[in-house]
Amino acid sequence: MAGTTHTEPLVAAAEFPTIAHTGVAYLDSSATSQTPRVVLDAMARYYECSRASVHRGVYPLAAEATELYEAARERIASWLGWDAPSTIFTRNGTEALNLVAGTWGRANVGAGDRIVLTEMEHHSNLVPWWMLAREKGAILETREREIESLQRELTSLRARLARVESINDEVAQLRAAVFALTHGATSLVAADTIH
Ligand SMILES: Cc1ncc(COP(=O)(O)O)c(C=O)c1O
Repeated sequence: MAGTTHTEPLVAAAEFPTIAHTGVAYLDSSATSQTPRVVLDAMARYYECSRASVHRGVYPLAAEATELYEAARERIASWLGWDAPSTIFTRNGTEALNLVAGTWGRANVGAGDRIVLTEMEHHSNLVPWWMLAREKGAILETREREIESLQRELTSLRARLARVESINDEVAQLRAAVFALTHGATSLVAADTIH
């Protein structure tokens, strides 16, 4: 990458207290990611100064907590380039994907529709689609992660949803290709960007 020097990872490591304290080269972010100082500080500020129920109180502290919560939603939406009402916070990836399968899926997937997954799905993301397919009489299919093979599936009129991960560059490219393929097609893509 242009402008990247070998010192940059060290600068980034300093932002993570766990790494700064232990000096480890941490390689297990896909299971548990470390939390940067700026996030720890924001959480501490919230717990020390603004902790209250969000959207469930009219007293000043609850109003402040709600404002902070909604401001975070706005900021994340603007950063990602979509609107705030479409930005939904969940406790984790499993809950988010169950939510999509249980809401969008229940409303839009019907008997005979196809849900196309790649062969590398995480278990927590396979199960919601499997349950949806079983409930709706849809067809759950697993495909190798080859662009040509996915292209065939996604251009099929009855492929309603494709799900892809973005673990590394190779998969990110695959994801971009799937988005391009489904643009204007009848299928939607659920991107598991947990990594
Ligand atoms: C690719 C992938 N998808 C989904 C999950 C589930 O995420 P969560 O633990 O946030 O529910 C994981 C967890 O490791 C994952 O690696």
